[in-house]
Amino acid sequence: MQNYNELAQSVKISDDKKHLLLDADPTLSLIGKGRSAYVFRIHSTNKALKVFFPDHTHTAKVEAEIYKTVQSIEYYPTLYDAGVNYLVIDHIEGNTLFECLTLGIPITEENIAEIDHALQLARKEGLNPSDIHLRNIFITSEKKVKIIDVARFKQVKSCNQWHDLKSAFHLFYSKSFFPKKIPSFILNSIAAIYKKRFLPI
Ligand SMILES: Nc1ncnc2c1ncn2[C@@H]1O[C@H](COP(=O)(O)OP(=O)(O)OP(=O)(O)O)[C@@H](O)[C@H]1O
Ligand SMILES: [Mg+2]
Repeated sequence: MQNYNELAQSVKISDDKKHLLLDADPTLSLIGKGRSAYVFRIHSTNKALKVFFPDHTHTAKVEAEIYKTVQSIEYYPTLYDAGVNYLVIDHIEGNTLFECLTLGIPITEENIAEIDHALQLARKEGLNPSDIHLRNIFITSEKKVKIIDVARFKQVKSCNQWHDLKSAFHLFYSKSFFPKKIPSFILNSIAAIYKKRFLPI
C-alpha cells in the first residue's frame, strides 16, 4: 500500500483564507477544489486524495466516519484510508451534474431516480443527506450515480437542496424547450441567487 499519509503531507496549502496550493508531490494531479479541500488523483491508481485546508482539517475525521457508514452502498466511493487532514477514496470516472450541464451531457429521469434512491439508502443508515449540490453528484462513464462529499450527512438541520434541484429538473430542465447545455457563469449566478433564497422553487 502506498504511504498515503506521506503523500497528503506533501501537499502544502497556505494558512490563510486564500487557501493557495503551494506544493504537492509530483505523483498527484489536481482534479478539484471545494470550500474545504483540494482533491488529487494519485498517478497510476484509481484513487483520489482529498486534502483539507488547514482550517478544515477536523472535517477529515467526520467525513471518514460517514463514509464508513455508507460503505455497503454502491452509490458512494470506497474509503481506503483517512488521516488527520486527508481521505483516500475511489477516483470517479465521469462528470459531476455541474459538468453534465455545462458540457450538454443529458441528465435523465433515471439518473434522478437513482440519486433519490442513493440518498434514501443513506437515510436508512441513520444519516441526514445534506449539501447535495451539482458538484457533489457524479454520473459515471457507465451512467451510474456516485455521491461524494458526505461530510454534512450528520447535520441535524434539514437541507432542501436536493428537493429544490429535483423541482428545477421537473419544472424546467425536463421540458423540451429548456436548453440542455448551460454556461458555467449562468449556473453559478443561479446558485448565488438560490443561496439568497430569491428563487421561486
Ligand atoms: N473521488 C473523486 N473523483 C473525481 N473527482 C472528485 C472526487 N472527489 C472530488 N472530486 C472533484 O473535486 C471537487 C471538490 O471535492 P469535494 O466536493 O470533496 O470538496 P469540498 O471542499 O468538500 O466541496 P464543497 O465545496 O462541496 O464543500 C468535486 O466537486 C469534484 O469535481
Ligand atoms: Mg463538494
